[in-house]
Formats: sequence, structure tokens, C-alpha cells
Amino acid sequence: MVIKTAEFVKSSGRWQDCPEANLPEYVFIGRSNVGKSSLINAMLNHKDLAKTSQTPGKTQLINHFVINESWYLTDLPGYGYARVSKSMRKDFEKLITNYILNRKNLVNLFVLVDARHTPQKIDIEFIEWCGENGVPFSIVFTKADKVKPNTVITNVENYKNELLKTWEDLPEIYVTSAEKKEGGDAILKFISDTNTFLTNNKVNFQ
Ligand code: GTP
Ligand code: MG
Repeated sequence: MVIKTAEFVKSSGRWQDCPEANLPEYVFIGRSNVGKSSLINAMLNHKDLAKTSQTPGKTQLINHFVINESWYLTDLPGYGYARVSKSMRKDFEKLITNYILNRKNLVNLFVLVDARHTPQKIDIEFIEWCGENGVPFSIVFTKADKVKPNTVITNVENYKNELLKTWEDLPEIYVTSAEKKEGGDAILKFISDTNTFLTNNKVNFQ
């Protein structure tokens, strides 16, 4: 997909305040600091569209971007950020889960996980929650440049095996590096193919 335009629309503190749900929407979600905002920028070839930071918890609102004037890309706050109070963490969780369950035009979640680690409990729990609530998702490994290619392969295999304990079919899996601008094209192709499918089947959110 050629990115002709990528524009920031707005930041929202509640799902009710998000932009009108009139275009197909794709969402980046994952633990705080996993690299959501960085991958959005790399994928769209924009340096600073989504704000990134070395300090976890940078993205605290739901950020909507509109791409090629035809679909939304959404950057969510990270879940599981430990260094805020328990009640604040609960508020974030509520913001995220309410948004996911209520957003009518949500087509797919991209759940980002760190390619350096073995499956983490919090990510697996979130993925299970998606399954229980019928939320479609794909898995995106981030920061692949930070470990040897063989380690990435092993970690992806471990993840698949962990998922196969509870899932019959595996979701789409992408391996990416925002640093090296790798893997974003495959995600864009999935989005482009899905948008074509929605158009051909006359699904529109107008
Ligand atoms: P929150 O908004 O706090 O939830 O974080 P986030 O998931 O949006 O992470 P962000 O994109 O801000 O990145 C966090 C840190 O990881 C930054 O210091 C990035 O430079 C670094 N980072 C992100 N992606 C990559 C990558 O692919 N490779 C490397 N080496 N570093 C990365
Ligand atoms: Mg962020």
C-alpha cells in the first residue's frame, strides 16, 4: 500500500469521544514500551506522527490517525504499566477494554509483543480476553533487531506453542523492527487486502 496521506485526527480519553466510527479501523495495542508508537511511525514512514518515548506510559490517550483518507490507525495506551497507581492502571484498563468492546468499526487488533522475550503472562491474558470477547487480532513481534535472528525464530515458535495450548488455529503473525523499518509492509498489505474485502462485500461504516 502506498501511503499518500497520514494525518493525526485527535486524542480521546473515552471511547465516546473518539472520531466518528465511519471508516475501517485497525488498532495497535500491547504492553507499555513494547514499541507501538515507533512501529506506527516506521510503517507510515513518518518520523514523529505518533509520540514515542523511552519512558513507559507515554501514550495515555486513544490516538486516531487517518490514512489515505480511507481508514483509521489507532495507537492505544499500553497495558500493564507498573509504575502508576493501581487505580490509575485500572482506569487505563477500563479505557482500553471499553474502547475495544464498543468501537463498532474496529476491524482488527494488532497485539504487539516483544520479540526478545518468552510469552509473558499479561500478553497471554490479554489475548485470551480477545478470544473470550470475539475480538479479531493478529500478533506482531517488535524490536526484532535487538536479538539474533535465531532467537527471534525460537521465541516465535515458543509463542505459537503457548497459543496452541488454548487455540485451535494460530492468528496471523508478523515480525517487525521499527528501528530497521522491517515488517511494516506485511501489516500494510494485510490492511489493504482487508479493506478491499470490505469494499467488495459492501461493508461500510458510513
Ligand atoms: P507507550 O506509549 O508508553 O505504551 O509505549 P510504546 O509501546 O508506544 O513504545 P514506543 O514506540 O514509545 O517505544 C518505546 C522505546 O522502545 C523507545 O525508546 C523506542 O525507541 C524503542 N523501540 C521501539 N521500537 C523499536 C525497535 O524496533 N527497535 C529498537 N531497537 N528499539 C525500539
Ligand atoms: Mg506509545
